[in-house]
Amino acid sequence: MRSTLRILKGEHLALRGIARVLKMEALVLERGGRVDLDVLKDIVAYVREFPMRFHHPKEERTLFAALSGRSPEADALIVRLTSEHADEGRLVQCLADAVAAYARDGGGNLAGVAKDYARYLEEHIHLEDHQLFAQAEHLLSPAAWDALDATLEQAQQPGQDKAELDRFTRLHLRIMDAALPPFGG
Ligand SMILES: [Fe+2]
Ligand SMILES: [Fe+2]
Repeated sequence: MRSTLRILKGEHLALRGIARVLKMEALVLERGGRVDLDVLKDIVAYVREFPMRFHHPKEERTLFAALSGRSPEADALIVRLTSEHADEGRLVQCLADAVAAYARDGGGNLAGVAKDYARYLEEHIHLEDHQLFAQAEHLLSPAAWDALDATLEQAQQPGQDKAELDRFTRLHLRIMDAALPPFGG
């Protein structure tokens, strides 16, 4: 697999993990339970930065730019995905507000808001994993792939981007560790 796709799919998997935890916490709330506020606050901190400031701009600078103008289907897909990136800030702010309201007095519609954001993440990522990546595999030349791979691999090298990535990875591990207790046993 091209390193561009491996890197982006890895980031998608991390975000799908966040979506899964949000759906689990929503289920707990709907069944009358109490959610883990520390986990939810960490999720808000993570989604305020990782997807919106790091992952989506990376996609737009690399894969979207390389695919732009290659076919009407690819262009339509890029328009849709870019507009979803732009709209995500509203969903993240709703989640942050709902977590703050829940922390204050247990009120607000945290379950509904968490499910909305989780659904958005899962649908957006599904579109990229299945349609965007398929279009890229069909339309991009080996030279274009080499250029994308070099750009994305650069961010994995020691430096500012790598330091940021490591910070997000540590936060993601803390969320998953706290939110996913041992199963069975
Ligand atoms: Fe995206
Ligand atoms: Fe993505």
